[in-house]
Amino acid sequence: MMNESDPLLLDHEVDGIRELDNKLPRWWVWLFYGTIAFSIGYLVYYHVLGAGPLMAEEYEREMKAGAAAKAAAMSRFEANIASLEPSQDAAVLESGRQLFTTLCAPCHRMDGGGLVGPNLTDDYWIHGSTFADNVRVIWDGVPAKGMITWKNNLRPDQILAVASYIYTLRGAKLETPGKPPENQAPVDTGPSIYE
Ligand code: HEC
Repeated sequence: MMNESDPLLLDHEVDGIRELDNKLPRWWVWLFYGTIAFSIGYLVYYHVLGAGPLMAEEYEREMKAGAAAKAAAMSRFEANIASLEPSQDAAVLESGRQLFTTLCAPCHRMDGGGLVGPNLTDDYWIHGSTFADNVRVIWDGVPAKGMITWKNNLRPDQILAVASYIYTLRGAKLETPGKPPENQAPVDTGPSIYE
């Protein structure tokens, strides 16, 4: 119940609602003054003096650092292509198989027998027969001939995985063998795991 003689009671009233003029706790008031002081400091530091980076600038800076790290990782991978070996790791090959099924099969056929893109199971290679040759073609693509430049879309570890997977297709006995290219000599790519 409200006491009419309460010294905190203000004398206005709306629809029976009255107001008590309670004192705010000192700690709260000082916290409030603190935020005002902080905001002045913040305004002067960032917007008047321009002494610190604003959000947009921080974003730009981090994106640039990210791009530099990516470029460094890509050139590290590129420099090492010649010495790469196909992975035997089951998890890597499985992720390679999935990548191949979604990204490569439309042109190279599900079993690697070739459609628009050449047969990847036979002994005919346009761009060289080694594992490193394959990685190089996948990495750089052959844009003029319709083979996509995968370094723009895939990470190095994904390219390694899909290249390792297609390496397991070499020599596969396909139900409908892919057509060998015309006017081209086969290269011996070593023993097949299917023989
Ligand atoms: C849009 C169609 C297309 C897609 C998708 C595609 N390729 Fe190709 N690929 C080609 C063509 C066309 C060539 C032949 C290029 C040439 O004639 O120089 C080729 C060539 C290659 C070669 C070299 C073959 C050789 O004889 O030297 C490899 C390896 C290869 N592709 C792997 C892949 C992998 C792995 C993927 C998926 C990540 C992929 N390709 C996706 C069209 C494609």
